[in-house]
Amino acid sequence: MLVSAEEMLKKAKAGHYAVGQFNINNLEWTKSVLQVAQEMNSPVILGVSEGAGKYMTGFGTVAAMVKAMDESLGITVPVALHLDHGTYEGCYKCIKAGFTSIMFDGSHYPIDENIAKTKELVQVAHQMGLSIEAEVGAIGGEEDGVIGMGECADPNECKAVADLGVDMLAAGIGNIHGKYPANWKGLSFETLAAIQEKTGVMPLVLHGGTGIPEDMIKKAISLGVAKINVNTECQLSFAAATRKYVEEGKDLEGKGFDPRKLLAPGAEAIKNTVREKIALFGSANKA
Ligand code: 13P
Repeated sequence: MLVSAEEMLKKAKAGHYAVGQFNINNLEWTKSVLQVAQEMNSPVILGVSEGAGKYMTGFGTVAAMVKAMDESLGITVPVALHLDHGTYEGCYKCIKAGFTSIMFDGSHYPIDENIAKTKELVQVAHQMGLSIEAEVGAIGGEEDGVIGMGECADPNECKAVADLGVDMLAAGIGNIHGKYPANWKGLSFETLAAIQEKTGVMPLVLHGGTGIPEDMIKKAISLGVAKINVNTECQLSFAAATRKYVEEGKDLEGKGFDPRKLLAPGAEAIKNTVREKIALFGSANKA
Protein backbone atom coordinates (compact mmCIF):
# COMPACT_ATOMS: atom_id res chain seq x y z
CA MET A 1 0.00 0.00 0.00
CA LEU A 2 1.76 3.15 -1.20
CA VAL A 3 1.46 6.00 1.29
CA SER A 4 3.35 9.07 2.44
CA ALA A 5 5.77 8.50 5.31
CA GLU A 6 4.06 10.98 7.62
CA GLU A 7 1.86 8.66 9.66
CA MET A 8 4.26 5.71 9.90
CA LEU A 9 6.97 8.01 11.26
CA LYS A 10 4.70 9.75 13.77
CA LYS A 11 3.71 6.31 15.07
CA ALA A 12 7.35 5.20 15.18
CA LYS A 13 8.44 8.28 17.11
CA ALA A 14 5.61 7.87 19.61
CA GLY A 15 6.20 4.11 19.90
CA HIS A 16 10.01 4.35 20.28
CA TYR A 17 11.02 2.32 17.26
CA ALA A 18 12.36 3.21 13.82
CA VAL A 19 11.18 2.52 10.27
CA GLY A 20 13.91 1.33 7.90
CA GLN A 21 14.61 3.11 4.64
CA PHE A 22 16.19 0.60 2.28
CA ASN A 23 17.62 2.04 -0.93
CA ILE A 24 16.63 0.24 -4.11
CA ASN A 25 18.63 -0.25 -7.31
CA ASN A 26 16.55 -2.54 -9.50
CA LEU A 27 13.69 -5.03 -9.58
CA GLU A 28 15.41 -7.60 -7.34
CA TRP A 29 16.11 -4.99 -4.65
CA THR A 30 12.54 -3.68 -4.70
CA LYS A 31 10.98 -7.13 -4.62
CA SER A 32 13.23 -8.33 -1.77
CA VAL A 33 12.49 -5.31 0.44
CA LEU A 34 8.73 -5.39 -0.21
CA GLN A 35 8.47 -9.14 0.45
CA VAL A 36 10.30 -8.92 3.78
CA ALA A 37 8.28 -5.89 4.95
CA GLN A 38 5.08 -7.83 4.20
CA GLU A 39 6.37 -11.02 5.82
CA MET A 40 7.30 -9.10 9.01
CA ASN A 41 4.18 -6.91 8.95
CA SER A 42 6.37 -3.81 9.05
CA PRO A 43 6.03 -0.37 7.48
CA VAL A 44 8.90 0.36 5.11
CA ILE A 45 10.45 3.17 3.07
CA LEU A 46 11.99 2.52 -0.35
CA GLY A 47 14.80 5.04 -0.86
CA VAL A 48 15.82 6.14 -4.35
CA SER A 49 18.91 8.28 -4.81
CA GLU A 50 19.15 10.50 -7.88
CA GLY A 51 21.89 8.21 -9.22
CA ALA A 52 19.76 5.09 -8.75
CA GLY A 53 16.81 6.88 -10.36
CA LYS A 54 18.96 7.69 -13.38
CA TYR A 55 20.26 4.10 -13.51
CA MET A 56 16.70 2.79 -13.61
CA THR A 57 16.09 5.19 -16.58
CA GLY A 58 14.21 7.85 -14.60
CA PHE A 59 11.91 8.45 -11.64
CA GLY A 60 8.84 7.72 -13.79
CA THR A 61 10.08 4.17 -14.41
CA VAL A 62 10.77 3.68 -10.71
CA ALA A 63 7.35 4.95 -9.63
CA ALA A 64 5.57 2.79 -12.22
CA MET A 65 7.55 -0.32 -11.20
CA VAL A 66 7.01 0.19 -7.47
CA LYS A 67 3.28 0.89 -7.86
CA ALA A 68 2.75 -2.15 -10.07
CA MET A 69 4.85 -4.42 -7.86
CA ASP A 70 3.09 -3.25 -4.71
CA GLU A 71 -0.16 -4.32 -6.33
CA SER A 72 0.98 -7.55 -7.94
CA LEU A 73 2.63 -8.77 -4.72
CA GLY A 74 -0.50 -7.85 -2.76
CA ILE A 75 1.44 -5.68 -0.32
CA THR A 76 -0.81 -4.46 2.50
CA VAL A 77 1.82 -2.90 4.82
CA PRO A 78 2.45 0.86 4.43
CA VAL A 79 5.19 1.55 1.85
CA ALA A 80 6.60 5.02 1.11
CA LEU A 81 8.48 5.66 -2.12
CA HIS A 82 11.00 8.29 -1.11
CA LEU A 83 13.59 10.38 -2.95
CA ASP A 84 16.91 10.18 -1.07
CA HIS A 85 19.16 13.28 -0.91
CA GLY A 86 17.16 15.11 -3.53
CA THR A 87 18.25 18.26 -5.29
CA TYR A 88 15.73 21.07 -5.70
CA GLU A 89 15.06 19.98 -9.32
CA GLY A 90 15.01 16.29 -8.37
CA CYS A 91 12.27 16.95 -5.79
CA TYR A 92 10.00 18.46 -8.43
CA LYS A 93 10.70 15.54 -10.80
CA CYS A 94 9.71 13.00 -8.12
CA ILE A 95 6.56 14.90 -7.15
CA LYS A 96 5.57 14.76 -10.83
CA ALA A 97 6.57 11.11 -11.21
CA GLY A 98 4.26 9.96 -8.41
CA PHE A 99 6.63 9.41 -5.47
CA THR A 100 4.89 9.54 -2.08
CA SER A 101 7.74 11.19 -0.19
CA ILE A 102 10.80 13.34 -0.91
CA MET A 103 13.98 14.42 0.80
CA PHE A 104 15.32 17.84 -0.03
CA ASP A 105 18.99 17.89 0.92
CA GLY A 106 19.86 21.57 1.17
CA SER A 107 22.60 20.92 3.73
CA HIS A 108 25.32 22.20 1.38
CA TYR A 109 23.58 25.59 1.02
CA PRO A 110 24.02 28.41 3.53
CA ILE A 111 21.32 27.88 6.20
CA ASP A 112 19.13 30.77 4.97
CA GLU A 113 19.00 29.32 1.47
CA ASN A 114 18.38 25.82 2.83
CA ILE A 115 15.46 27.23 4.84
CA ALA A 116 13.98 29.17 1.89
CA LYS A 117 14.10 26.21 -0.50
CA THR A 118 12.88 23.72 2.13
CA LYS A 119 9.96 26.05 2.98
CA GLU A 120 8.85 26.21 -0.63
CA LEU A 121 9.12 22.44 -1.10
CA VAL A 122 7.22 21.73 2.15
CA GLN A 123 4.25 23.66 0.77
CA VAL A 124 4.33 21.96 -2.62
CA ALA A 125 4.87 18.46 -1.19
CA HIS A 126 2.07 18.80 1.36
CA GLN A 127 -0.32 20.20 -1.22
CA MET A 128 0.28 17.05 -3.27
CA GLY A 129 -0.02 14.73 -0.26
CA LEU A 130 3.69 13.81 -0.04
CA SER A 131 5.82 13.78 3.09
CA ILE A 132 9.13 15.65 3.11
CA GLU A 133 12.51 15.21 4.83
CA ALA A 134 15.02 18.02 5.23
CA GLU A 135 18.69 17.90 6.21
CA VAL A 136 20.84 20.03 8.45
CA GLY A 137 24.56 19.35 8.91
CA ALA A 138 26.12 17.21 6.20
CA ILE A 139 26.27 13.42 6.51
CA GLY A 140 29.83 12.23 5.97
CA GLY A 141 31.24 9.87 3.38
CA GLU A 142 30.41 9.36 -0.28
CA GLU A 143 27.11 8.41 -1.86
CA ASP A 144 26.56 8.51 -5.61
CA GLY A 145 29.49 10.89 -6.01
CA VAL A 146 28.21 13.31 -3.35
CA ILE A 147 30.91 13.67 -0.69
CA GLY A 148 30.08 15.04 2.76
CA MET A 149 32.49 15.75 5.60
CA GLY A 150 30.29 14.41 8.45
CA GLU A 151 29.66 17.41 10.64
CA CYS A 152 27.40 17.69 13.67
CA ALA A 153 24.28 19.77 13.07
CA ASP A 154 23.55 22.94 15.05
CA PRO A 155 20.44 22.21 17.22
CA ASN A 156 19.12 25.77 16.71
CA GLU A 157 19.31 25.37 12.93
CA CYS A 158 17.52 22.03 13.31
CA LYS A 159 14.72 23.76 15.18
CA ALA A 160 14.45 26.45 12.50
CA VAL A 161 14.09 23.79 9.78
CA ALA A 162 11.74 21.60 11.88
CA ASP A 163 9.50 24.64 12.38
CA LEU A 164 8.96 24.81 8.60
CA GLY A 165 6.64 21.81 8.99
CA VAL A 166 8.84 19.05 7.53
CA ASP A 167 7.73 15.51 8.40
CA MET A 168 11.19 14.19 9.28
CA LEU A 169 14.58 15.73 9.86
CA ALA A 170 18.02 14.34 9.04
CA ALA A 171 20.66 15.91 11.25
CA GLY A 172 24.35 15.13 11.11
CA ILE A 173 25.55 13.52 14.35
CA GLY A 174 28.89 12.16 13.13
CA ASN A 175 27.27 9.55 10.85
CA ILE A 176 28.83 8.60 7.54
CA HIS A 177 27.53 6.95 4.36
CA GLY A 178 29.26 3.72 3.37
CA LYS A 179 31.60 1.66 5.57
CA TYR A 180 32.79 3.35 8.77
CA PRO A 181 36.56 3.90 8.94
CA ALA A 182 38.48 2.12 11.74
CA ASN A 183 39.16 5.47 13.45
CA TRP A 184 35.47 6.57 13.46
CA LYS A 185 34.60 8.28 16.74
CA GLY A 186 31.00 7.00 16.88
CA LEU A 187 27.71 8.89 16.95
CA SER A 188 27.50 12.09 18.96
CA PHE A 189 24.65 11.32 21.37
CA GLU A 190 25.22 14.70 23.01
CA THR A 191 24.31 16.40 19.72
CA LEU A 192 21.36 14.05 19.18
CA ALA A 193 19.97 14.73 22.66
CA ALA A 194 20.29 18.50 22.12
CA ILE A 195 18.51 18.25 18.73
CA GLN A 196 15.72 16.12 20.18
CA GLU A 197 15.23 18.61 23.00
CA LYS A 198 14.85 21.47 20.49
CA THR A 199 12.70 19.62 17.97
CA GLY A 200 10.36 17.68 20.31
CA VAL A 201 8.07 15.25 18.48
CA MET A 202 9.81 15.61 15.11
CA PRO A 203 10.85 12.15 13.80
CA LEU A 204 14.66 12.29 13.40
CA VAL A 205 16.45 10.42 10.63
CA LEU A 206 19.71 8.53 10.98
CA HIS A 207 21.53 8.23 7.65
CA GLY A 208 24.49 5.93 7.15
CA GLY A 209 22.84 2.95 8.89
CA THR A 210 25.43 0.48 7.51
CA GLY A 211 27.90 -0.68 10.13
CA ILE A 212 26.56 1.24 13.14
CA PRO A 213 26.83 -1.11 16.15
CA GLU A 214 23.53 -2.40 17.56
CA ASP A 215 23.86 -0.66 20.91
CA MET A 216 24.34 2.70 19.18
CA ILE A 217 21.27 2.07 16.98
CA LYS A 218 19.18 1.31 20.08
CA LYS A 219 20.44 4.39 21.90
CA ALA A 220 19.76 6.59 18.86
CA ILE A 221 16.16 5.28 18.73
CA SER A 222 15.74 6.02 22.45
CA LEU A 223 16.84 9.62 21.70
CA GLY A 224 14.22 10.26 19.01
CA VAL A 225 15.47 8.59 15.80
CA ALA A 226 12.40 7.20 14.00
CA LYS A 227 13.85 6.45 10.53
CA ILE A 228 17.13 4.72 9.73
CA ASN A 229 18.60 4.58 6.22
CA VAL A 230 20.43 1.49 5.00
CA ASN A 231 22.01 1.23 1.58
CA THR A 232 25.59 -0.09 1.48
CA GLU A 233 24.88 -3.11 3.71
CA CYS A 234 22.38 -4.56 1.19
CA GLN A 235 24.90 -3.95 -1.61
CA LEU A 236 27.60 -5.80 0.33
CA SER A 237 25.30 -8.76 1.09
CA PHE A 238 24.17 -8.95 -2.53
CA ALA A 239 27.75 -8.80 -3.84
CA ALA A 240 29.07 -11.44 -1.42
CA ALA A 241 26.29 -13.94 -2.24
CA THR A 242 26.67 -13.37 -5.99
CA ARG A 243 30.45 -13.80 -5.73
CA LYS A 244 30.00 -17.09 -3.86
CA TYR A 245 27.60 -18.41 -6.52
CA VAL A 246 30.02 -17.59 -9.34
CA GLU A 247 33.13 -18.75 -7.49
CA GLU A 248 31.46 -22.09 -6.80
CA GLY A 249 30.93 -22.38 -10.56
CA LYS A 250 27.15 -22.58 -10.19
CA ASP A 251 26.63 -20.33 -13.19
CA LEU A 252 28.34 -23.01 -15.29
CA GLU A 253 26.14 -25.89 -14.08
CA GLY A 254 23.06 -26.61 -16.18
CA LYS A 255 21.08 -23.40 -16.67
CA GLY A 256 22.80 -21.68 -13.75
CA PHE A 257 23.56 -18.71 -16.00
CA ASP A 258 19.84 -17.85 -16.20
CA PRO A 259 19.57 -14.38 -14.60
CA ARG A 260 16.68 -15.60 -12.45
CA LYS A 261 19.08 -18.18 -10.96
CA LEU A 262 22.22 -16.03 -11.02
CA LEU A 263 20.60 -13.18 -9.12
CA ALA A 264 18.61 -15.36 -6.69
CA PRO A 265 21.28 -15.80 -3.96
CA GLY A 266 21.96 -12.03 -3.96
CA ALA A 267 18.25 -11.27 -3.66
CA GLU A 268 17.98 -13.78 -0.78
CA ALA A 269 20.97 -12.09 0.90
CA ILE A 270 19.26 -8.67 0.65
CA LYS A 271 16.18 -10.21 2.28
CA ASN A 272 18.27 -11.51 5.19
CA THR A 273 19.86 -8.09 5.73
CA VAL A 274 16.48 -6.34 5.63
CA ARG A 275 15.04 -8.93 8.04
CA GLU A 276 17.86 -8.33 10.54
CA LYS A 277 17.45 -4.54 10.32
CA ILE A 278 13.67 -4.57 10.73
CA ALA A 279 14.07 -6.77 13.81
CA LEU A 280 16.75 -4.45 15.23
CA PHE A 281 14.81 -1.25 14.50
CA GLY A 282 11.71 -2.69 16.22
CA SER A 283 9.23 -2.04 13.38
CA ALA A 284 8.03 -5.66 12.95
CA ASN A 285 4.26 -6.03 13.54
CA LYS A 286 3.78 -2.26 13.54
CA ALA A 287 2.09 -2.04 10.14
P1 13P B 1 24.63 3.57 4.10
O1 13P B 1 24.95 3.34 2.66
O2 13P B 1 25.84 3.90 4.89
O3 13P B 1 23.83 2.47 4.69
O4 13P B 1 23.73 4.91 4.15
C1 13P B 1 22.49 4.94 3.53
C2 13P B 1 21.89 6.29 3.57
O5 13P B 1 22.05 7.04 4.50
C3 13P B 1 21.04 6.69 2.44
O6 13P B 1 20.68 8.03 2.50
